[in-house]
Amino acid sequence: MTSRADAGERLLVRDLAQLATPAGSGAPLRGAALGDVTVLDDAYVFCEGDTIASVGRMVDLPAMDGDVEELDGRGLCAVPGLVDCHTHPAFGGDRVAEFALRAGGAGYEELHAAGGGILATVRATRAAGEEGIGAAVDRHRGWMLRAGTTTWEGKSGYGLDRETELASLRAVRAAGGVPTWLGAHAVPPEFEDADGYLDFALTEVLPEAAGVAAAADVFVERGAFDVAQARRYLEACRAAGLALRLHGDQFTEAGAVGLAIELHARSIDHLEATGDAGVRALAASDVVGVLLPASALVLTRPMPPARALVDAGAAIALATDFNPGSSFCESLPLICALAATQLRLSPAEALVACTVNAAHVLGRAHEVGRLAPGYAADIVLLDAPDWRYLGYHLGGELVSVVVKSGVRAAVR
Ligand code: NIG
Ligand code: FE
Repeated sequence: MTSRADAGERLLVRDLAQLATPAGSGAPLRGAALGDVTVLDDAYVFCEGDTIASVGRMVDLPAMDGDVEELDGRGLCAVPGLVDCHTHPAFGGDRVAEFALRAGGAGYEELHAAGGGILATVRATRAAGEEGIGAAVDRHRGWMLRAGTTTWEGKSGYGLDRETELASLRAVRAAGGVPTWLGAHAVPPEFEDADGYLDFALTEVLPEAAGVAAAADVFVERGAFDVAQARRYLEACRAAGLALRLHGDQFTEAGAVGLAIELHARSIDHLEATGDAGVRALAASDVVGVLLPASALVLTRPMPPARALVDAGAAIALATDFNPGSSFCESLPLICALAATQLRLSPAEALVACTVNAAHVLGRAHEVGRLAPGYAADIVLLDAPDWRYLGYHLGGELVSVVVKSGVRAAVR
């Protein structure tokens, strides 16, 4: 859908109602800096090739010689291309039947324990094969782009055999995503226990997965992997050169926060069950807490303690957790609305959390997540007179134009 802009191509997005971008140049932002957003009225963004050359107010726009493509920003607001740092896009089939059962009262963990849930998607993903997985990831990537996501992470974790895990990682990379090996998502049925499965995964899959993935992830939870198993998995992945992520404290506090801090993980994601001690420990660490409010909403779980984390000084990011079970939602604008209404984050904190802080989780904060000179020319134009419609227009058709690497990639 996108093509890389030629180095010489120039794009001027002009007459914007507003432009909003995380202030400063550091990452991750925390405390008061988390809510520090620079807003310019009557603004422009000027891109040269795939990079932003300048941003400013229209009154300060210098005269330009030569060919410049212009994009009319009247009535629109520009924010950085959104960054989704936690998605599971590599899956076959769907879980709509399970969704209907859950709507009737069935429990997510019970369905999983009965061989449904994640394991149902494992069966469908194995059956889809490499071509089917590639097609699914492409389709999901298109949905994300149309929702304003220009940088995204994609996990494996629905293969849990060598071939399907590697096919999932390759599909994410081929679609332009940042691949994460979620080799420890669940114990597949052909193994008797988690330790036996990890013997296989670390010997047979990790060596090749480490050549494709940027990070490794583990689901620390009753019914999945305990702290000792997660430590073993993550230490092996770190030795293979991967950054570390954890799914932790989704249903129970099983020690994932302490492990994330001990291993200097990039992030711990979920945190719906995290109590005061976990909040304090995270705030004193460099581990980013990735909050996934759509998953809490869909599973009717308590929301993560976002306000407590931010007020204690923790670095947080927001993500969709896009997956077929707990969060069939690719929209970061919807996540921003949940952040403002359910997590008690300000619109500015939400914007920073799904741009520069999410980019930090992916090790990309030096190149994406801000509208500033030198950053990637990834821009979302919102059909709104005020950029805070990002959280305000709940589920609306807000994303008008998406520019990726200096090229108009998605237009409604
Ligand atoms: O992040 N918690 C574990 N994994 C996913 C859900 C996977 C699924 O239900 O298919 C999550 O919510
Ligand atoms: Fe997840």
